[in-house]
Amino acid sequence: MKRIKFVIGLLTLLAIVLMISCTRETPAPEPNEPPDEDISKVEIPAPENMIIDPADWEEKFPLVYTSFMKTSTMGDDTAEDSGLGGSQPLDYIEKYPNIKILYEGIGFAKEYYQARGHFYALEDVANISRPKGGASCLACKTAEYEKLYAKFGDELASMDFQKTIQEVEFGITCYTCHRNTPGESIQTTTVHFNEFADMLKLDPIPGNKACAQCHVEYYFDEENNSVLLPWGNGTEIAEIEEYYDEMDFSDWVHPRTGTPLIKVQHPETEMYTGSLHASMKVSCADCHMPRVIEDGKEYKSHWVTSPLKTPNESCGRCHSNEIDTLPERVEAIQTEIEQMEVDVSDMLVKLIIDFGKAIEDKKLTDQQIVQLRDLHRKAQYRWDFVFVENSTGFHNRAKATEALNEAKSYAQEALDILQGL
Ligand code: HEC
Ligand code: HEC
Ligand code: HEC
Ligand code: HEC
Repeated sequence: MKRIKFVIGLLTLLAIVLMISCTRETPAPEPNEPPDEDISKVEIPAPENMIIDPADWEEKFPLVYTSFMKTSTMGDDTAEDSGLGGSQPLDYIEKYPNIKILYEGIGFAKEYYQARGHFYALEDVANISRPKGGASCLACKTAEYEKLYAKFGDELASMDFQKTIQEVEFGITCYTCHRNTPGESIQTTTVHFNEFADMLKLDPIPGNKACAQCHVEYYFDEENNSVLLPWGNGTEIAEIEEYYDEMDFSDWVHPRTGTPLIKVQHPETEMYTGSLHASMKVSCADCHMPRVIEDGKEYKSHWVTSPLKTPNESCGRCHSNEIDTLPERVEAIQTEIEQMEVDVSDMLVKLIIDFGKAIEDKKLTDQQIVQLRDLHRKAQYRWDFVFVENSTGFHNRAKATEALNEAKSYAQEALDILQGL
């Protein structure tokens, strides 16, 4: 406690010194103060007035703009990220060959690369050859989705992807998180997030909700292909599973075992919720978009990337006395979680192969098949939740560990049944 008070004292002093010694590109708001306006009362500009091109803000916010454009350099492998949760170009299938079997039957078994910077969002979705259900895939790739939605309404989600992308020029831009108000407020623009936030009465702090627009688990509406969030029962791993179970949902059926499976997608928000850092009200933006000083000017970095590239700015206000060893602490967590991921995936591969073979050899009763599919679904869902969460466990070590332990025991139970045949 004493140490924390001391740190707070030091920080206040530092903040005062900073305020005196450097000019700001923008006045700094209180960190994480919720915005005054009610989400539902925010006015959406008419399509012709939407300021989508980030270059339109360059003159007013030159430093923010330049930092934002740096998301295009994320593939640079000289960068100091961890190599596990960072942004080096990485082919997951080459690195984790087990996923060829775990994801058999869907595109991820054939093509799956690590995410790149926001600059590439539109380009990458255009180039990936995995089949796309419709234009709703653009919801998290372009600031122009709200404009398209104003034009086409609910039809948009199921419109042809390739045709619709021809109408789009920009990827993620200032508009995505600010509409026409950079420097004044965070406004969320992804249609699905706004609907769910209204419906579930969620209003996360600005530095979290800007990211929760996209860095969440989602699924597509079977009827009209729109993006939906499985949050009806809550955002914990088991609550999301329960929600999917209740609606009998599956993304695909595994060709060897007949198991209806859930394919999880980048659940950073859900993983981070309830973590140690979240309990201290540290937001995604606090770590990934720190305040930085350049040529005596302070601004909020918009180079959204691995915080290990900016440990002083991202973490220094609390970890200043161990800043040099902090990246190692992060990597130690990631290495531990990665090893657990690999171990569980080995078990799942064995489960899938043995289960598939037992079905083929007609060794199982109907009841055993139902039971084994249930165990397979539960185990793979938990493994996937941690595997596709992009921090490799750092965002919430406790939650990641618990999920992998549960995955392990479900997989073991299934392996024991198969062993006993
Ligand atoms: C306490 C600081 C902290 C907070 C808060 C935080 N992150 Fe992270 N995040 C990290 C670290 C550290 C990594 C691992 C970086 C590495 O391995 O190089 C990471 C990794 C990531 C990655 C993988 C990509 C990359 O370049 O490393 C994504 C995506 C991400 N975080 C998004 C989010 C989102 C969304 C939130 C909020 C829900 C969030 N983060 C909250 C520190 C944080
Ligand atoms: C991915 C979401 C996102 C995008 C894209 C984005 N911003 Fe921001 N911006 C934020 C967040 C989050 C904050 C901090 C808000 C807070 O914590 O209250 C912020 C803060 C700001 C601020 C206030 C800075 C300060 O010192 O407090 C300015 C100015 C700004 N953004 C301009 C821009 C401009 C210009 C662009 C496009 C070139 C842009 N933003 C793109 C999320 C975004
Ligand atoms: C409009 C949707 C959207 C919003 C809003 C958004 N992201 Fe992203 N983010 C993406 C997509 C899509 C990618 C992957 C881009 C690619 O691979 O081409 C990505 C990639 C990233 C990466 C790089 C991943 C890597 O491994 O290098 C980080 C870090 C990240 N986002 C963090 C954040 C944070 C923090 C916020 C909030 C301040 C945020 N994002 C807001 C869609 C979004
Ligand atoms: C608001 C203060 C605050 C900020 C900002 C913050 N941390 Fe922490 N962090 C803590 C506290 C307090 C703990 C618990 C004590 C400890 O383990 O040092 C902690 C714990 C950790 C741990 C151990 C977690 C575990 O599960 O064992 C790591 C690693 C870590 N932080 C890394 C980071 C990194 C990297 C950043 C910046 C990207 C960061 N922290 C930003 C306060 C903060």
